[in-house]
This record gives sequence, C-alpha cells and structure tokens, in this order.
Amino acid sequence: MIFGKKKTQQVQSPSQPQTKQVTPVSKELAKVEKGMVSLADVIAPSSVEVDFHYIRVGEIYYKTFFVIGYPRYVSANWLQPLIDFDHSMNISMFLYPTSSPDVLSDLRRKIAEMEATIASQIEDGQVVDAKVRASLDDALAIQDQLAKGVERFFQLSLYITLCSDNVKELDEASKQLTATLGSIMMICKTATLQMEDGFKSSIPMGQDKLFITRNMDTTSLASTFPFTSATLAQEKGVMYGINEQNGSLIIFDRFSLENGNEVVLGKSGSGKSYLIKLEALRQYMFGTEVIIVDPEGEYEEIAQTLGGEHVSFTPSNPIKINPFDLSGLYEEGENELGLKILSLHGLLRIVMGELDAGHDSILDRALMETYRQKGITADPATQKKTPPLMEDLYKVLLGMEDPAARELALRLEKFIKGSLNGIFNQQSNFDLKNPLTIFNIKALEEELRPIAMHIILDFVWTRVRKTLKKRLLILDEAWYIMKYPDSASFVYGIAKRSRKYYLALTTATQDVQDFLSTDYGKAVLSNSSIQMLLKQSPTEIDLISKVFYLSEGEKELLLSADIGEGLFFAGQSHVAMKVIAAPFEHTLITSNPQEILNMREDAGEDSEGNLLPTPAPESPVEPIAPVMQPAPAEPIAAPPVSNLPSQVQPNAPLNPMPAGSTPPAQPPAITPPTTDVGTIPPSNV
Ligand SMILES: Nc1ncnc2c1ncn2[C@@H]1O[C@H](COP(=O)(O)OP(=O)(O)O)[C@@H](O)[C@H]1O
Ligand SMILES: [Mg+2]
Repeated sequence: MIFGKKKTQQVQSPSQPQTKQVTPVSKELAKVEKGMVSLADVIAPSSVEVDFHYIRVGEIYYKTFFVIGYPRYVSANWLQPLIDFDHSMNISMFLYPTSSPDVLSDLRRKIAEMEATIASQIEDGQVVDAKVRASLDDALAIQDQLAKGVERFFQLSLYITLCSDNVKELDEASKQLTATLGSIMMICKTATLQMEDGFKSSIPMGQDKLFITRNMDTTSLASTFPFTSATLAQEKGVMYGINEQNGSLIIFDRFSLENGNEVVLGKSGSGKSYLIKLEALRQYMFGTEVIIVDPEGEYEEIAQTLGGEHVSFTPSNPIKINPFDLSGLYEEGENELGLKILSLHGLLRIVMGELDAGHDSILDRALMETYRQKGITADPATQKKTPPLMEDLYKVLLGMEDPAARELALRLEKFIKGSLNGIFNQQSNFDLKNPLTIFNIKALEEELRPIAMHIILDFVWTRVRKTLKKRLLILDEAWYIMKYPDSASFVYGIAKRSRKYYLALTTATQDVQDFLSTDYGKAVLSNSSIQMLLKQSPTEIDLISKVFYLSEGEKELLLSADIGEGLFFAGQSHVAMKVIAAPFEHTLITSNPQEILNMREDAGEDSEGNLLPTPAPESPVEPIAPVMQPAPAEPIAAPPVSNLPSQVQPNAPLNPMPAGSTPPAQPPAITPPTTDVGTIPPSNV
C-alpha cells in the first residue's frame, strides 16, 4: 500500500526529482536492512587475515600450494599418495580443453627448435643432449597422436590448500606434503603473496584465480582421476553389495580367505540382520549349511520358505538340548572332557553369577564327579556313554557336605525348576540334519537368552566338529553373550578354530562398546577376515574409528549412512558399500512392519499371518498362493468347502471319483493349496 501511494504521488508531480520521492523509503529500507541478518552474515567468518605465507579465515589457517612439476610417466591412480595424505586439505583441479590446431602449431615449432638444437650439436661434434632427445621423442609421439585425433589436449592446474588450527602445525604439514609429493616426482610451490587467490581457487566455487597450468593429454589426465578405489571382487563367492564409489559389485568367497569369519557392527536398525539374512540366503543357494542363533525371532520366515528347521525354545517344544553332551571325538592332544568342563564352567558362571575361587574349585570337583557317576572320565572310550544332566550336577552339589556347595546348588535351581527346566535339563533329542537350522530363543526371558545362546553355541560346536561340511554359523545380537567374559571367550575359541572345521562364523552386534571392550571381542574381530561397519551412533564412532583406523571422511560416512550403507573391510582393503537385495529376496528378509503387513494383506492373511477364510470368488480363478506363505508343516485347514464353486477347487485330483459313481455336488477331496514358490520341502519342525 505504501508503495502504491508513493507511486501515485510520483505520477502527480513528475517535475520533482525522483530521488527526493524515494529517499525516505530507501532510508527506511536501509535502516531496516541494517538491522537484518543476511545469509552472508551468518556464514561469513568474523575476520580474515591475509599474510604472505597463509590466510587466516576465522580461526583456521590455510596455505595453498600449486603444482608445477609432474612425473614423466604416470600410472592409474598415481595421485593416491596425495589423496591419502593424512591432513585436512582441499584439493582442486581445473581442466581446460585446448584446441588441437593451436597445440599442433606450437608443437611443430617446439619440434623444429629441438631438431635444430640436436643438429647444431652434431655439427659442432658434441654429444647430443639426452634430455633434448627424450623431449623430442615425446613431442613427436604426441604430435602423431594429436594429428590422428587419438588424444586431445588439456591444460591442468592442481592446487592444494592445507588447513590447520595454528601456523606451526600448518608449516609442519606443508613440509610433509612437499615431501610426499616429492616422492611421486611432483614439485609443488607455495602460492606466496597469493594466498587469497589460492584460497579462493580451492574452495568449491569453480574459480581459478591462480591459473598455473600444465599441458596434459587425455590419457595422462584420465589417470589423475582421484576417486578410484580398490575393487573388492573375486571370481566366485556371494555378492555382498555394491561398491558405492564406482558401482562395481562386491563379491567375496569368505571360505577362500584365511578364515571365513565376519563381524557386523552397526546401530540398531542400520540393517545388520538384513545383510546377514541376505548373505545367508545366498550362501545357502551355493550349498553352504546355515545355522542361525536368533534372539529376536526374525528368521522364522526364511526357515519356513526355504524348508529349514526352526527350533523355537519354549518349555512345550519337544526339542531338548543337554549342555553336558560330549562330541565323542578324539583329537590328538585335546582333552575333550577337560574342554567340556571348561565350557560348562563358563556357562555356569553366567547362570550362577559371581563365583569366588572357593566356588570355582567346588564347581570343578562337582562337574568331574557328575561325569564320573555316569562312568565318564578323561578316557575317550568312556565318553560315548550317556552324559549326565544338569539335575545330576544339582544332586552332586547338594550331596557335597559344604555350605558353599549347597549355596551353588540353590543358585542352579532355575535350571531344574525354572523355565529352562523343560529345555536344557533333558537328554538331547535333536541333531543338525537340516541344511538350514534356526534356533529361536526369543520366547525366553531376556536374562535367560545369554544362557540359551551359550548352550546352543556349545551344542552346535560339538556337532559341527563331528562331520566336515561347509557351514555358516550366525550369531545375531551377539552382545547378549559377548558381555560375559566366559561366553565371549567361548565365541573367540570358535572363531579361532573354525577354519579347521570348514565353519565360518558371523557375529553381529549393535553394542560396539560391549563387544570391543573385552579382549575376547577384539580377538574375535581380529580373527575375522571380513568386517562390516554400518551406520554408527555418535557415541560409538570414536571407539570404532580408533579400532578401524578410520579417516575423517569415513567417520562422516558411517555417521550419516543410510540403512544398508557402510564400509566393507576385507583384508587390507575397504570400500563403501550399499547392501542391495533383489525384490524376491527383499520380501523374504525385510523386517519392516509396514511392508510385512502389506504383504500379509496381499496374501489374504490377517495381521498374525493366519489365512483368512476365502470369500466366494465370482468367476473361476487360479488358487492364489501367497508368495510369502511358507510351506506349512501341517496341512493348513482348507478354506470352507461350501464357499467354493466346484471350478475353483485348487489342485483337485484329476479323477477323484471311482468309475461309475455319480459326481457329488462338491468334490470329495480338497488338497490344501500349495505355495507357488517352487519346490519347497515342508518344514520338519
Ligand atoms: N539394504 C537394505 N535395503 C532395504 N531395506 C533395508 C536394508 N537393510 C535394512 N533394511 C530395512 O531396515 C530395517 C532395519 O533393518 P534390520 O536389519 O532389522 O536392522 P538391525 O538388525 O541392524 O537392527 C528393516 O525394516 C529392514 O527391512
Ligand atoms: Mg537385527
């Protein structure tokens, strides 16, 4: 409104100078603007000081170098030492295409000069300067390439700006940089007196204020491309993901490495289980047996779809495991019973809590005695006998006339009377027969899970050693047991010895602190050829970066990573990785609740995964087998017969009636719908 009014005034008195009319407004505006904060104000440093040898912007000192000398021969990725230089810096490169005719005429002149030099040297009876001859050869070669159009010509300028909190550190870094560049035959100079231009040239503005260039042909220029990274691909193996830097595939055969173990670290929800499931699926396809210890109950879907064995530990489940089982194997130099007692000791320490030295020795004696009562001694011949049960140990402890032993017996009661009673206090009636076995311990109370995990691990380890097969043992949420030194030491023992038994161990954990704070955790890590770091929380990044020697950039990457993104380490190399699954794999492994609900809806199931009664279809339709509907162990009750018109009977027998009989109104038999996922063996759980 105000402006409109002024405008009218202006029109009414055109003779008056315009400035007079506008002045009050612009003054007002100027006042208002003075009080406003612009974007530039927000981002600008409080001061800038330009010195001969550096420029200080805010509190940070910068120093720019330009490169004037380049090596004669370069190979791919020759700038690597510069890229890897361990100091904060900006590197900027400017590439100027030049027109070939100009370069050619320049070259011709140069060539003529050099030829003249050589000719005069020969005439004078001097030895021809080798440098001139070499340059001439180069020039001729380039002339040839340019004339044919094989190469094009560019000018390259390369600037490096170091930054630091103080001048001393800056000078130190400058010396190191010069030396590093010297080692790859590059000569750099400080942009003395041109620090401001240098600084401006190396911020991402695309302005070359220094303009110090060097001629380059296409090939040499291509080799300066700084973002090459090691490709981590082997001829065979399974695909882990995509190299985010160059889009190549990360394919690895972990069984071909010095050990097949893998550690996956990442905060909750970063995609650890997804990655593990994906790998397990792919390994399984290649004939690897897969055993999974699943504290979160996430792997049931896979087991059912692939026809694996899904063992859920609940007191009502008929499957039992006896922690006292012996492998019955005799290995030179190993005392099977001794190792077993050690492992049981570790387990009992989790069950019973703190034990002092007195308790330890009582427990040792009691364990020996428990086995002895069953006729089992260090003699391998006796070790095939039926092993004792936890109950027997309890009785032995009660029988010892020592108050401390009595106290231990009481602490053991949760095994004998508590919720573990039905599961781990009976003879084992289960063996690893299925190539995919999943131990689900989600139904157990949280404090019992570490105990169950330890027992399962011990059981698997006992069985795995009996027959040699290519196997993958997965321990998801490993922090449950890694926080107990005795279990952690057991896991370490497996990691260390797994190779001999063709076993690869995967441990995944979100609790990096717990995992890496014990020596055993660190040892498991260093006994793993493959390590994967997914998104990390700010509280743990420092520990991670210390252990993995991460650069600032890598730290940033892990802090800001998306789901399924991270770093993949194999041996000396590591790359940024993104885990990608095919759509059919995704439907199997996702744990996104919304997606699962949608899939169930599409499959005609209710929110708990039960088949809904099929409404009567209006026209004959193929029976819809839900993609995600696992092969049922027991035939699922067929949908109500009366709802289905006769044409709709799925898989009805071709000739269901004896000859001569009159067809009944409804077909006599309905085979339950089978899934259409192919040949899925029924689960034998
Ligand atoms: N690479 C990926 N692509 C797509 N979705 C993913 C990917 N990784 C994980 N997710 C989804 O992200 C969620 C969390 O993944 P999950 O593996 O359960 O995390 P974590 O085991 O680390 O807690 C799940 O819903 C999963 O389906
Ligand atoms: Mg998980």
